Amino acid sequence: MLKLIRLNGTRFNSLFDIGCADGQLTEQTANLLQTPIQNVYGVDIRSFGEKEFTFLQCDFETEKIPLPNDFVEAAIVTQVLHHVHGWKNLLKEIQRVLKPNGILIVRESLLDSEVNQIMLDIQHGLYACCICDEMDADEFVNQFQTEYISQNDLQKYLQTLFRVRNFVFDGKDDKFQKMLVCLRQE
Ligand SMILES: C[S@@+](CC[C@H](N)C(=O)[O-])C[C@H]1O[C@@H](n2cnc3c(N)ncnc32)[C@H](O)[C@@H]1O
Repeated sequence: MLKLIRLNGTRFNSLFDIGCADGQLTEQTANLLQTPIQNVYGVDIRSFGEKEFTFLQCDFETEKIPLPNDFVEAAIVTQVLHHVHGWKNLLKEIQRVLKPNGILIVRESLLDSEVNQIMLDIQHGLYACCICDEMDADEFVNQFQTEYISQNDLQKYLQTLFRVRNFVFDGKDDKFQKMLVCLRQE
């Protein structure tokens, strides 16, 4: 991912992973960006136990990100925005926390077409069956609610908040098309 947006080898002193889940990607990214682990922050609604980086629990729908303004040099938000009704507010919060000139990497499913929407719903269903604890229909809908954000809406909104540094279609030939954007805070 970092190679695609030509950030591989660039050093960032602090990193923030929004929707970090179990933190695997957080730690890999911190490694690649050479970020000292004491300056790595991950936030998610669910806690996955002790981590080497600082984990903060927060619900993006109802709470502000518990970090100060202008705090981190690099942020990643991958496959999270489509789970959040208030995705625009979440992006504003990320902007608040990012330092001037900081970098934000966004990776999101392209959900314009019905085929891509159905593919993502199936993926969520399989994920819920295979990896999660047993849950009833209400819990499933609550946990896997999906905002079908169009590429156009997402791109336009990102452009109102940030300077686009690099934009790549990732996995264009598979059934799970994604877009990958690297942005710079003004
Ligand atoms: C598909 S996972 C992506 C995990 C990781 N970023 C990755 O790319 O592997 C989406 C993550 O967003 C989190 N999430 C969804 N809705 C959230 C909310 N309202 N507040 C905080 N985290 C949320 C989920 O708990 C989950 O860990």
